[in-house]
Amino acid sequence: MTNQEIKLVKNSWRKLMGIDHGIIGDVFYSRLFIQQPGLRKMFPADMTQQNKKLVDMLVYIVGGLEQADILSNEIRALGKQHQNLGIVAHHYETVGDALIWTLEKALGIDWNEELKSAWKSCYSELAESLQEA
Ligand code: HEM
Repeated sequence: MTNQEIKLVKNSWRKLMGIDHGIIGDVFYSRLFIQQPGLRKMFPADMTQQNKKLVDMLVYIVGGLEQADILSNEIRALGKQHQNLGIVAHHYETVGDALIWTLEKALGIDWNEELKSAWKSCYSELAESLQEA
């Protein structure tokens, strides 16, 4: 990622964290399960904890921007955990699409093509590391 992309993602992150996490979670999981209903069974019946998990996922994505080395053991473990759940490449694509869609809705007028491409590279880099793990 370029420094400019990192800067863009970090700035939008501040705004995102000011939005109710429950709302962001609802938007993300609704979009995800509409796009691919088969994914629903991978998640717990009770989704109340899941909004926190989505924020955890975002923390990983943004946190990984500058601490790739520190996180690498954790990334390996997280990658394994996802592999054990049966998660494969096309799932990463669907989750990435739902994430970008959610960010677009959440960031509203602050959203633009440059920011979209910055978030996409950020997500793809981490998704690749998780799959390599
Ligand atoms: C860059 C991509 C991703 C990141 C950073 C990420 C991050 C995380 C994190 C931090 C957790 C919580 C782990 C824990 O509590 O121990 C988690 C759990 C989980 N993730 Fe991901 N994830 C990613 C992609 C995906 C994809 C593509 C799927 C496929 C649908 C997925 C499905 C799940 C499921 C089913 C759980 C467990 C939920 C539960 O049992 O509560 N994740 N993920």
